[in-house]
Amino acid sequence: MNSKELKDKILKLKKEKNAVILAHYYQINDIQEIADIRGDSLALAREATKLSSDIIVFCGVRFMAETAKVLCPDRKVLIPEMDSVCPLADMATREEVLKKKEELGNTTIVSYVNTNVDVKTVSDICCTSANAVNVVRSLDEKRVLFVPDRNLGSYVKEQVPEKEIVLWDGYCPVHEEYSVENLKKLKEEHPNAKVAVHPESPKAVREMADFIGSTSGIINYVNKTDTDEFIIGTEEGILYELRVNNPGKKFYIIGSKSICTNMKKITLESLYKALKDEIYEIKLDEETIELAKKPIERMVSIKRT
Ligand code: 13P
Ligand code: SF4
Repeated sequence: MNSKELKDKILKLKKEKNAVILAHYYQINDIQEIADIRGDSLALAREATKLSSDIIVFCGVRFMAETAKVLCPDRKVLIPEMDSVCPLADMATREEVLKKKEELGNTTIVSYVNTNVDVKTVSDICCTSANAVNVVRSLDEKRVLFVPDRNLGSYVKEQVPEKEIVLWDGYCPVHEEYSVENLKKLKEEHPNAKVAVHPESPKAVREMADFIGSTSGIINYVNKTDTDEFIIGTEEGILYELRVNNPGKKFYIIGSKSICTNMKKITLESLYKALKDEIYEIKLDEETIELAKKPIERMVSIKRT
C-alpha cells in the first residue's frame, strides 16, 4: 500500500472504531499530518483527559502512552510500537530513586514526565519541560530531587534559586549532542537568526540561546517573533509544525542528527496495524494507576505556563 492508501485506511478505521490519534511533535510528518491532535507532552497529557473516544492511539514514546493510560484508565490506550521507549526515562528506576531519597532524607521528588510509570508511583509531583519551573516554584518544600534530566534540572535550578535542587545524572541523547561549536558555526552562517532551544540542551548551549522552552514553547516563540530565520535546538520533527504555521520562515536545526530514533519507530504501517488489530495495548495494574495518578494530576492541576 502506498502512503495515501494507508492514510485513507487509517482514517476510515479510526472513525469505525471511535479512536483518536495523538501525536507528539517528534513523530514523522505523515503521522503528524493525520493525527487528531499534535502536541508536546504536557498538551497531550491534558488533551487525553478531555477525550470521549473508546480508543486512544498514542504516537509517541512509551512513557507518554502510559501517562495517557493513567489519566484515562477506562480507555483502551494503544502504542503502535511497544519498543518506542525513551532512553532518558530508562536512566532512572524506582529502586534507584527510593535509594536516593533514603540517602537524602526529607526531600520532595519531582519527576519529569520522561520517566517510566513505576518511577511516577514514588514521585510527589511530575513536570514537563513546559511547566517544570512553575511546578518547582509551586512547592512549599525547599529540598527537591529532580529526576532524571540533569540539563532540565539545572535550568530549573537557575530559574528557582530559592530551592535546594539535587540533580539526577540523566540526559537525553539527542539534546546532549548539541555543542557550542555546532551552534557557533550556525550563528556565523546565519547571523540574523534567533536561537530557540529545548531545556534538555546542555547549559553552554542554553546560554547562547535567545529563547529556552519546551517544544510548544519554541513553536509559540517562532510564531510570534518577527524574524525570518531561526536556529532550533530540538528534535527535527518539530519542523513540521513550525513550517505549517510559518511557511515563509527558515529553520536550521543544531546538530547533524537531531533525530530521536525511538520516536521515529512509528510508521504509517505500524499505526494502521495498531488500529486494525488493536495493538499494543498499554496495561497497568490498578495500584500502579492509583499511585502514578497522584503526581500527574497534581502537575495537571497547576496553572498553565
Ligand atoms: P516536550 O515536553 O517539550 O514535549 O518534550 C518531550 C521530550 O521528549 C523532549 O525530548
Ligand atoms: Fe526521550 Fe530524548 Fe527522545 Fe525526548 S528526544 S523522547 S527525551 S530520547
